[in-house]
Amino acid sequence: MNQSNTINDLEYINQIYKRILDEVDVGIHAVDKTGKTIIYNKKMTQIESMDCHDVMNKNLLDVFMFKDGQASTLVKALQGGKATCNVKQTYFNNKGNEITTINNTIPIYYENTISGAVEIAKDVTKLEKLMKGNLKQKGTTKYTFDSIIGKSTAIKEVIEVAKRAARTSSYILIVGETGTGKELFSQSIHHASNRLSAPFISQNCAALPDNLIEGLLFGTKRGAFTGAVDYPGLFEQANGGSLQLDEINSLNLNLQAKLLRALQEKTIRRIGDTKETPIDVRVIANINEDPIDAIAQHHLRKDLYYRLGVVTIFLPPLRERKEDIPLLVENFIEKYNQLFQMNVRGLHVDVLKSFLEYEWHGNVRELEHVIEAAMNIMLDEEMITYSHLPYHYRTKMDLNKEKMATTSIDSFISKENDSVLLLKEQLELFEKNYLEHILKQNQHNISKTAKLLGLSRQSLQYRMRKLHI
Ligand SMILES: Nc1ncnc2c1ncn2[C@@H]1O[C@H](COP(=O)(O)OP(=O)(O)OP(=O)(O)O)[C@@H](O)[C@H]1O
Ligand SMILES: [Mg+2]
Repeated sequence: MNQSNTINDLEYINQIYKRILDEVDVGIHAVDKTGKTIIYNKKMTQIESMDCHDVMNKNLLDVFMFKDGQASTLVKALQGGKATCNVKQTYFNNKGNEITTINNTIPIYYENTISGAVEIAKDVTKLEKLMKGNLKQKGTTKYTFDSIIGKSTAIKEVIEVAKRAARTSSYILIVGETGTGKELFSQSIHHASNRLSAPFISQNCAALPDNLIEGLLFGTKRGAFTGAVDYPGLFEQANGGSLQLDEINSLNLNLQAKLLRALQEKTIRRIGDTKETPIDVRVIANINEDPIDAIAQHHLRKDLYYRLGVVTIFLPPLRERKEDIPLLVENFIEKYNQLFQMNVRGLHVDVLKSFLEYEWHGNVRELEHVIEAAMNIMLDEEMITYSHLPYHYRTKMDLNKEKMATTSIDSFISKENDSVLLLKEQLELFEKNYLEHILKQNQHNISKTAKLLGLSRQSLQYRMRKLHI
């Protein structure tokens, strides 16, 4: 009775140990004195991209390959009997993946002889790749103002603002839905500025966890934390040039405060450093929601907004400048004609009509993808027809049509002049009728109507003036 209790206790304790091993955020790998793996926890399987059963009970050197002259830290601990702390190791798993870890390795003694060794590893593969990757990004701007397609008043106005902003070094905030061209504008501004021969570096703030992004932006000093190396952050790398911070509203508020400080003082301090380094970087921040909403939702600090938004550029969504659709389409068809060696000449009139009704929540990017997808399934037809359009577009369009049933575009288009040449007038007529219709439905309440139409108050009022409503 007693004995079985002891066994159960042992089993139970064992299970707890196993569970703990699998929950901790460091890799743990233990070998016996022959180098055969006896413990290999879950985190280690993730770090090394290995299945547990490919490693357990196998000799370490049969599973992993170490670079020339670099012995495994585990094997060294077995042979030399000495513990090592914070040793960086780069090696390969048997699938050929390179792994970089920072290890603490401890030999295990049993009755005065070495009976095995344990390694506790932190994964730095991701951080290393990021740092190397970012260093490569220097000077890779490909867009200039000439790449921006559009003749609508709305786009011409913002291009003008952006061109003026390119002459100064003020910080810029670019506001626009996904696919409206924030990257395009950021790069064009850099290109047109006197910083063009200095680096343009871009970082998406939503792509990384907070602890990584802080080091990435401001840099780290060797020894600041385990595995930290002397790394110049993106501010230092972009010195003299421009730093595009994408999705600034996903940066946590503490980091936004640090960013504000850097922008105000024009200095940065690497993590773990006491020294302030002066920097001369033009920050171009991008945000995909209205900054006032972002502040209200605590996605954006008000003080940072005031500092960044000295120049604010609002990129109009495609649905607010539908008159640019034909020109964009023409350019994309030309691009894919060259790329795919095709001879597509244009859109069937039904397709154009449907493009003008569609909401384009993915904006210019979505339009380009629709053209690319259509041209992918065309054989030797010259015109893109509705049936060539991708499934997702057609289903969304059909839903849209149902929604619009009561205010169908057809009722606003003058039937005799159903031609592409009159597009601008057609659109204005449609816009005017539609706005009047919705305004009337809402007792001419501007705020309510603007909200329903997905426009700002200012934008709606601008349109009403323009269309003489
Ligand atoms: N006015 C335009 N003229 C030509 N191409 C455009 C225009 N606007 C956007 N594009 C194209 O659309 C795609 C998306 O643009 P971009 O990457 O600049 O958008 P974004 O606003 O940064 O989007 P996200 O918020 O998703 O990052 C790119 O391929 C870009 O070249
Ligand atoms: Mg972008």
